[in-house]
Amino acid sequence: MTAITTTVTRLQATGRRPQVAIVLGSGWDGIADAVQDAIDIPYAELPAFPALSVAGHAGALRLGRIGGHEVALLRGRKHVYESGDAAAMKGPIRTLAALGCATVVLTNAAGSLDSSMRPGSLMLIGDHLNIVQRTPLHDEPGDARFVNMADAYDPALRQRAKDAASAAGIALHEGVYAWVLGPQFETPAEIRMLQRLGAQAVGMSTVPETILARHAGLRVLGLSMLTNMGCGMEAEVLSHAHTLQTAGATRALAARLLQAVVPALLPPLP
Ligand code: HPA
Repeated sequence: MTAITTTVTRLQATGRRPQVAIVLGSGWDGIADAVQDAIDIPYAELPAFPALSVAGHAGALRLGRIGGHEVALLRGRKHVYESGDAAAMKGPIRTLAALGCATVVLTNAAGSLDSSMRPGSLMLIGDHLNIVQRTPLHDEPGDARFVNMADAYDPALRQRAKDAASAAGIALHEGVYAWVLGPQFETPAEIRMLQRLGAQAVGMSTVPETILARHAGLRVLGLSMLTNMGCGMEAEVLSHAHTLQTAGATRALAARLLQAVVPALLPPLP
């Protein structure tokens, strides 16, 4: 049996049938407290899931319900910068698809490239720039690897998310997310380049997961928490501690957004 088959079997034995999966990036973990009937399975018990190393990520799968809907929360992700492996999240994404999830919500912390989008605010990802030009699909056989990336961030789900945020009174920007490899932050010249290329946010995750999810036939919703302005835009000095500090301060708002948005993602679109 492959690692994915073993992991799917292990998760099916819980009797849970998650319809929506949420990958929780820095600052987004507050929603975990709102899950009812939660059961936790450490990634270490799931052979298709990665071992994690970044502070602020719990490394466990939480299955339960939000607003009456079955969900799977991935509390932490493996970044490509940790190993150089662009397919680091292949196991989890394919496991979720095999479990029957139709939709995945990918969340992250990102730097803002737009002076009107302030640290501590939230952004819906409308599209992305794969600046790294790496793919998690390089060893995929067959024509399915030529994934159509038009509407990678599902327009109907985006509309549902915007409506739900607005009904909950939560401001939600929308913009293009640029994936950089990291773990070093950008130079001021790189930030100016990304602005000219049309990005509103920059971060070190999500894009490979979006590609994997689209390849697996999942619909994707992407959400960024803007934790800082891009390097050189303002006087602040960037650090991972600074990202985690703003993420902590925005944690409750992010949890409220997900509590409003997740129920709106169901029923699944045809
Ligand atoms: N750049 C890249 N990744 C990030 C940033 C940033 O400014 N902030 C949070 N993640």
